[in-house]
Amino acid sequence: MKFATALALGTLALTASAAPTTSNSNSNSNSNSKSASQTKYIAPAFSHAARGQRPSVSAHPHKPFKAFPTFPQRTKTCTVKSLGSGKDDSSNILSAFHSCNNGGHVIFSPNTTYTIGTAMDWTFLNSIDIDIQGTIKFTDNTTYWQANSFKYGFQNATSFFKLGGNDVFIYGGGELDGSGQAWYDLYAQDIYILRPVLIGIDGLKNSIISDLVLRYSPMYYHFVANASNVVFNNLDISGFSASANVAKNTDGWDTYRSEYVTIQSSVINNGDDCVSFKPNSTNMVVQDLWCNGSHGISVGSLGQYVGEYDIVENILVTDISMHNASDGARIKVWPNSPSALSGDLQGGGGDGRVNNVTYSNFLLDNVDYAIEVTQCYGQSNLTLCAEYPSPLTISNVNFYNFTGTTSTKYDPLIATLECSSATVCSNITATDINVLSPKGYHNATCLYMDDSKLNVTCTDVKLTL
Ligand SMILES: *[C@@H]1O[C@H](CO)[C@@H](O)[C@H](O)[C@H]1NC(C)=O
Ligand SMILES: *[C@@H]1O[C@H](CO)[C@@H](O)[C@H](O)[C@H]1NC(C)=O
Ligand SMILES: *[C@@H]1O[C@H](CO)[C@@H](O)[C@H](O)[C@H]1NC(C)=O
Ligand SMILES: *[C@@H]1O[C@H](CO)[C@@H](O)[C@H](O)[C@H]1NC(C)=O
Ligand SMILES: *[C@@H]1O[C@H](CO)[C@@H](O)[C@H](O)[C@H]1NC(C)=O
Ligand SMILES: *[C@@H]1O[C@H](CO)[C@@H](O)[C@H](O)[C@H]1NC(C)=O
Ligand SMILES: *[C@@H]1O[C@H](CO)[C@@H](O)[C@H](O)[C@H]1NC(C)=O
Ligand SMILES: *[C@@H]1O[C@H](CO)[C@@H](O)[C@H](O)[C@H]1NC(C)=O
Ligand SMILES: *[C@@H]1O[C@H](CO)[C@@H](O)[C@H](O)[C@H]1NC(C)=O
Ligand SMILES: *[C@@H]1O[C@H](CO)[C@@H](O)[C@H](O)[C@H]1NC(C)=O
Ligand SMILES: *[C@@H]1O[C@H](CO)[C@@H](O)[C@H](O)[C@H]1NC(C)=O
Ligand SMILES: *[C@@H]1O[C@H](CO)[C@@H](O)[C@H](O)[C@H]1NC(C)=O
Repeated sequence: MKFATALALGTLALTASAAPTTSNSNSNSNSNSKSASQTKYIAPAFSHAARGQRPSVSAHPHKPFKAFPTFPQRTKTCTVKSLGSGKDDSSNILSAFHSCNNGGHVIFSPNTTYTIGTAMDWTFLNSIDIDIQGTIKFTDNTTYWQANSFKYGFQNATSFFKLGGNDVFIYGGGELDGSGQAWYDLYAQDIYILRPVLIGIDGLKNSIISDLVLRYSPMYYHFVANASNVVFNNLDISGFSASANVAKNTDGWDTYRSEYVTIQSSVINNGDDCVSFKPNSTNMVVQDLWCNGSHGISVGSLGQYVGEYDIVENILVTDISMHNASDGARIKVWPNSPSALSGDLQGGGGDGRVNNVTYSNFLLDNVDYAIEVTQCYGQSNLTLCAEYPSPLTISNVNFYNFTGTTSTKYDPLIATLECSSATVCSNITATDINVLSPKGYHNATCLYMDDSKLNVTCTDVKLTL
């Protein structure tokens, strides 16, 4: 693993490149080195394929469940014009997409800022390269976007645009900027506003998104719905708030009703899940990521909606470098009673299954829990979880080869693995958990687990207070 090498060197300030295996990437492994006194761990530097050239994207280090899509050469080129001075370029963009659809190559010019102030439906795309060399900036008219954004009907997610279609290759080394600050500040006043995700996908197939810089998303960076055989590669994600109002719910990726998705070789600086598998995420590989400040790589939350059946199955998460996070690997399930995490995040009562999930090769640094399994998500009254245990089953889950140290927050605990009843969890194992708390402990709270299969020192707990 490229990133683990830099981390294994500890205080040595070496960086590995986050570049995909590309024939023409300007790899600059050590150009970003800082002295060890400045920072212990440094994110891999972003580099990208040469301007105007497609990156060559291959699975690293593991094979995906299905071969990556390949793309025929395009025969036509459309360069998008920019009006400049913050004027809305949406109609220029739409006409370029239409005239180069079915076999063309759309170019957003370098050193050019394009403004988008209109919600656009891009689900008609077919056989097209979208080559973003410049910057695309979304306006911060929160009134307009709340009225016109696309509504997904899941956790109040909305989007600036809706990306879908077949045989779509997006790359270019350029940037998408969500102008998140206005949203972080507005959300602090009113948690019920509808914040757009930066990249909203609905019905995308056989496509790759690679070599892009993503900044200041108002909410998640990617919402991936109804997708099949889609690859995310070499993305550089970051966007901190400049005010006292923290950028919340800025998940790197949320997958939903999707299959055969691969997310790899990327750097994520955010404030919620680094990646999260929402209901009906199957046959997915997440690998070679460097996450900082997140809530870890999560299955769920699941069981949020009464009457729905959520499946997360056949998932491999491997070679993850996790820094300053609340969790490393997490599975979060709502109880079978109405619960609330906050006014705008409520749920409980849903059914489903989590099956065949592997979390391996995690390197942890200042992470609160290396592993967290809960079926009491969003509920502080543990008696209620015991009285109304989740029916959602969790089976065949392996946590393997974790190294590093946790934060002081739960010391001596490094993990918590708790199901809410004896019947729903089976074959959950944790092997080679070489993680210690700052005081040198290896403890965990365990409930309805086979403790002998967990390489942590279990203290059995009860749900009742
Ligand atoms: C990690 O994120 C924190 C903010 O949460 C930031 O201050 C720090 O610079 C980041 N670390 C690196 C190495 O990028
Ligand atoms: C874009 O700007 C960079 C400097 O930021 C410059 O090196 C490059 O030549 C410019 N490219 C074009 C096409 O103007
Ligand atoms: C924001 O959008 C609203 C609704 O579309 C519009 O009435 C208003 O003029 C826009 N404000 C700005 C500053 O463009
Ligand atoms: C996904 O596809 C289903 C079935 O076609 C559709 O009902 C739904 O609106 C689509 N989008 C999302 C976000 O689920
Ligand atoms: C998930 O897939 C199952 C099986 O196809 C289906 O019954 C269920 O409604 C789906 N759930 C969601 C949230 O789409
Ligand atoms: C379970 O997931 C692994 C990847 O971790 C995969 O190789 C295997 O094929 C999956 N099992 C089934 C039955 O699909
Ligand atoms: C949006 O949030 C509100 C407030 O929590 C909630 O009542 C509503 O059900 C949410 N919508 C969806 C689709 O989750
Ligand atoms: C364990 O994970 C580390 C990264 O944290 C990796 O360097 C090492 O090769 C892995 N060991 C095995 C046996 O896979
Ligand atoms: C927790 O739930 C139990 C069972 O419904 C109830 O008896 C108890 O009063 C609740 N405790 C609190 C602090 O709300
Ligand atoms: C337990 O789960 C693992 C995957 O984590 C799988 O390889 C193994 O076959 C399962 N064992 C049993 C007895 O089902
Ligand atoms: C965890 O496994 C390591 C070897 O991988 C072993 O040395 C250690 O004793 C185990 N710890 C516990 C608490 O089982
Ligand atoms: C932590 O584990 C140690 C054994 O290593 C045990 O003596 C201690 O009671 C445990 N503490 C907690 C809080 O679980």
